[in-house]
Order: sequence, then C-alpha cells, then structure tokens
Amino acid sequence: MKNPADEASELRAFLEEHNRNYYVLDNPTISDTEYDEKFLRLVELEREFPELRTPLSPTQRVGAEPLKEFPSHQHLQPMLSLDNAFGAEELIAFDERVKRGLQLDPEAAITYLAEVKFDGLSLSLTYENGALALATTRGDGTQGEVVTQNAKTVRTIPLRLAETETGVIEVRGEIVMQKEVFEQLNQTRLARGEQVFANPRNAAAGGMRQLDSRLTAERKLTFFAYGVGFVEGFSGWPNTHSEILSLLKRNGFLVYDRLRRCHGIQEVIAFTEEILAARSSLPFGIDGVVVKVDSLAQQDELGLTSRGPRWAVANKFPAEQAFTTLVSIGTQVGRTGVVTPVAELEPVFVGGVTVSRATLHNWEEVARKDVRPGDRVIVQRAGDVIPEVVGPVIEETKVRAAKPQAPTHCPACNTPLIQQLGMVAWRCPNRRTCPAQIESRLIHFASRLAMDIEGLGEKQIARYLELGYLTDLPSIYRLADFRSELENLDRMGERSTENLLTAIEASKTRPLERMIFALGIPLVGSRTAKDLARTYGTLQKFRQAHANELSAIPDIGETTALGIESWLADEENQEMISCLLTLGLAPQGTQGRTSDYFAGQTLVFTGKLEQLSREQAEEFVIQNGGKAAGSVSKNTTLVVAGPGAGSKLAKAEQLGVPVTTEEGFLASLPDELRASLEE
Ligand code: IVH
Repeated sequence: MKNPADEASELRAFLEEHNRNYYVLDNPTISDTEYDEKFLRLVELEREFPELRTPLSPTQRVGAEPLKEFPSHQHLQPMLSLDNAFGAEELIAFDERVKRGLQLDPEAAITYLAEVKFDGLSLSLTYENGALALATTRGDGTQGEVVTQNAKTVRTIPLRLAETETGVIEVRGEIVMQKEVFEQLNQTRLARGEQVFANPRNAAAGGMRQLDSRLTAERKLTFFAYGVGFVEGFSGWPNTHSEILSLLKRNGFLVYDRLRRCHGIQEVIAFTEEILAARSSLPFGIDGVVVKVDSLAQQDELGLTSRGPRWAVANKFPAEQAFTTLVSIGTQVGRTGVVTPVAELEPVFVGGVTVSRATLHNWEEVARKDVRPGDRVIVQRAGDVIPEVVGPVIEETKVRAAKPQAPTHCPACNTPLIQQLGMVAWRCPNRRTCPAQIESRLIHFASRLAMDIEGLGEKQIARYLELGYLTDLPSIYRLADFRSELENLDRMGERSTENLLTAIEASKTRPLERMIFALGIPLVGSRTAKDLARTYGTLQKFRQAHANELSAIPDIGETTALGIESWLADEENQEMISCLLTLGLAPQGTQGRTSDYFAGQTLVFTGKLEQLSREQAEEFVIQNGGKAAGSVSKNTTLVVAGPGAGSKLAKAEQLGVPVTTEEGFLASLPDELRASLEE
C-alpha cells in the first residue's frame, strides 16, 4: 500500500499536469474518465485524511465555501493603464515618440511585440516560491481585491509554476469568457427566466467577483497572461518582453499565440489590420491591439508617465456595442413572407458604422428581451453581422411605453398572418401579390451574392416598382422595354441606363448556384444552392427534383428537402422559371460530381496541411461524393491530421476513428483522383 500522503501528492501532480494538457496546451493525453477517477480518488483521500488537504490542491478548482467580503491588497508593483491610439496615424506618432525618447534616428526600426487587447478583467497573480499565493483584481491600480479562491477555479491559472520553485513574481493578464461559453451561459439563463448578460466581458467580470467561488467555477473563465509586475529572485531574467511571454508559457500559462514580433511600425499597422479583420472569428472578445517595445532595456530607458508606460500603447478598435434610444418598432416583410420586427433607432456609431435600424429577429424575441419604444437599448454590431438590439437598459428608462404587440395582418397587403406549426415566425401567405414580398424577392434576386446586378439596388427597385416597370422577377429582363422612360428619370440618363441594362444582360449567364440561390426558395441559402447546383448540373434537372433524392444530398435535411419540393410543386414558381428561361437566362452549369469515391464517408481535416488548402481538400471530398465535417464524432470515417492538430486528433484517438497524415491521405488515392487534385 502506498502511503496516503505520497499518493495524494502524486495525484495532485498528475491532475495538474493533465489539467494543463487539456486547458492550456489543448492537447489532452488521457480520457476524461481517467481524469475524473483520479480526481475522485483525491477527493476521497482528502476527506479521509483532512490533514492532507492543501490550499493548492486541484480539488479547490471547483470552488469553496463563500466569503463574506473580499479583503484588499496592495500590488507589489502598480497595475498601470495604457495610452490609447486610434488608427495608423496615431500609431506612427507613438513610434516617433518612442524614437525621440530613445534618441534614435527617425528612420530607425524599433522592434515591437504586438498582441491582442483582451476585452475582460485584468488580474494580477502573485506566486511565491512557485506556488500561487494571491490573486488580485486591478482595483484602483495600486490596491485591488483579493480573489484567490475564485482564481483557483480558473483552469488556465496554474496553481504551481511548472519550472520555478523560488522567488516572487506577479503575473499579469486578463480574465475573459470564451464566446462559446457565453452563448451557452445566456441560453441557460434564458431557459431559467433570468436576465441575460449583455456581453462576455460583463459575464467574466461578474464571475470573478462572486463571493461564492463555486459560482465562479460555473462560469468556465479563461485567463490569458500578457506580462509581469514585480519580480524578485529569478536568475537569468530575460532581456525582451517576447522572452518573458515564453517564460510564462513554459511555466504553464496560456499565452495567446496570435501575436507578432514586428520590425518597425508599418509591420505593427499590418498586424493591427489583420487582427481587426479576424476579430469576429476569434474565440473571445478583443477591443484592440497592444503594442509594446520588445527590448526591456529600451523599456527602462523610456520609463513611465503618471498614467502608464511610454513604451506601450493600445490601438483601440471601434466598440461593438453602444447605447441609444429605440424610437419605434417597425415591421419588415421578407421574400418568403416572414414578417419581422425591426428596431428604428436614434442613429448611433457602433462597430465602425452609423446604425439606425437593427433586427429584432422575431416577436417572441421582442417579448423575451422586453424592449419597448422609447427604451434606452444596447445595440451590437460585431464584424459583418447585421446590427441587433441586445436588450433594454431598464435603469436608464424612466417611463416605459406599453409592451408592443405583434401584428395580426400583413403591414403591406393587410392579409391575415399565419404561423406555421412549430415555427416562431409569422408569415404573410399572399405570396403572389403582396407588394412587400415582391419587393424583397427582387432585392434578394439582384443582390451581390445572388445575381449581382449592379445598379439595381433597394432604392431603384422601390422606384421601378412604383412606376410599374418592375412587377416580378422576370420583369427585370424586360426592363429594356422601358429604356426611354429610364433615360428620362432623375439621376439616370443614357449612360446609367446603358450600364444597368448591360449589367442585367450579363447576369443571364451567372453560375447555376447563384441562380438557384437568387430564386429565394425558403431555407435555401448559398451553401445549399451550391450543393443543389453540384447535384443537378442544370436548371432543367433541378426544377424536377423530389424530396427523397434531395434529402439524400449530404447536408440537406428533411425540412429543407420538403420545402424545396413544395416550392417546386407550385405551378406559379414553375411558370416563373419557364419565363426566365424564355427571356434568355442561361445559368452556367456547375460541374457535377466527379466520382463516388468517398460516398458514405465523412472526413475531418485538422492541423496544418502542406500541399492542399483546407478548403481545397474539403471541396475535393465533396466533389467525390463524400462529406467534410468540422468536428470529429462517431460518424467520422477518417481524420487527416497535419502538424499542430490538437483536440480533434485527441478526440479521434479517443473514439477510435482512423487517423492519417496528409501524405498518407494523398498516397491512398487512386492515381486519376490524385491527378485531378494536381490540375
Ligand atoms: S499590457 C503597463 N497587454 O488593457 C502595461 N494589457 O489599459 C500593462 N489589456 O486593463 C498592460 N490585453 O488589463 C496589456 N495584451 C495586453 C492586454 C492588456 C488587455 C488590458 C489591461 C488593462 C488595459 C490597459
């Protein structure tokens, strides 16, 4: 029998190592069951021998008894804030200040480290002799609140440093909530009838300030390390900030790897633009890029102002949320007749543009969010996503209007609305003559992702409908009959008319997938349209499609298949297609399936591929009858893993799914298929 003290200490080391593999390195090497078994064994030991309980045991990660209040603590080194810069010009000005401060030539190139600016709550972690001693919020920068118990529940905070057992170090970083966790948390709160959080930042900050650390544990927070404060007793301390980050990484911290060592400010500007473009696809919220002089000697030379360091600056991105007033709730009738509520807002600058309308999705959501005309509301625009109303800010609203009612009749044609079984959406059933539906269908048909007819936007469509030049989709291809009328319109003239008619003519030969998408069939987005075009090859074949064969297409579910079938069964739609074909529409066929080589198989590509791009590889599998999925499940038939593959590879191993390398995958293909890839 092992002695209990030794067993407990072995278990603790084992659990912390695998905790790090899972949460920090994203590379689990044991199953969840094995982890849980060891964890329970440690709980059992600690229960049996209370003297074996230690404050840094992994069992503490689930939280402990609630506190009465947070004690306060003075940081060994203050937590400073940063100067802001907005855009390239101000970054260049910062670079000039740095060079002047260092008495360097204006042409010199400074080495900077550019990192993302995490949008969360800053935290300082003090380690004494390698053990986590204290976790403190920023507070006023000099003194913060002690939240050690809460910090221990954060899996990406090491309880012990991996490489260091001496000295004192304050590790600085940010607590964030991953977007996925945030969505889940809000779903749960909604289901329980609780108020949802406006954004991940609030949910993270609130989570960290719970007196009951068991509640913090439930929030599944993440800590990213980005620097250090006070440091004492470390021999061979690095010379650059990048090396400090490597040291933190080696010691078990999560350091976000999307950072760049830049030579000169232009490289920093390029990095900033890349990050801004990637912002909405990152797994957590950021609000800018932090730029730091990399050399610690140069940092020392530049020194501090009362506000913050002269060697760093935060390039802020436009806020993705803003407050404004909800003026009224209007309605919009979509191309399939769905009537949606739209928020008419007092114009507000958010996500880099001025927003005056935002979607409210459906009437159920209006009720759930309880937004009413006159309310102060939070508006959100993240990336290219359509602006939306997050919810009201009740405190700021003095007198509230009555709850808005969903309309019972179509606002455009007054037809009573219907609600399809099991659907939240209210729909105007008057497909044929509802002017709003006709208008929405025309807008969709001519839009950029559909037939892409330049010069036929929302404004023009509204006007030509009013004048009777447009009546339905085919009428677009009869607009040439109104050439002289068009030429005489305000702001049109001969030149614009000619351009418009040329654009309409050019749209006749758009690829089949765009044409199918443009028809506005319910539930057929551009992805499904692509699958349909690939399967049928011509419009003539597609218009005869049946539900049973449609649902055999990978990624097309039964509901969509039935929806397409019933749309095609409608004589008027068939007539419209005939009409379009008579008017000269000749969509270019998409190449059909090349082979059935992967029929019945689902492949997952993960990690870095050397010879193919991921898109190319997935397209290839689909072209040859297979399915390409984004995550590994028991239905996966093969995982192709390149360097850097992480959790998907581990999952495949756990589920016993065969795994191969890119080379192995290519080598296994029949010659003619491989040749088709090399074309
Ligand atoms: S360095 C003395 N790096 O931004 C320099 N800060 O105004 C200390 N922040 O609340 C900050 N991401 O918590 C640094 N990669 C990053 C950061 C970052 C977010 C926060 C920090 C502070 C604010 C600075």
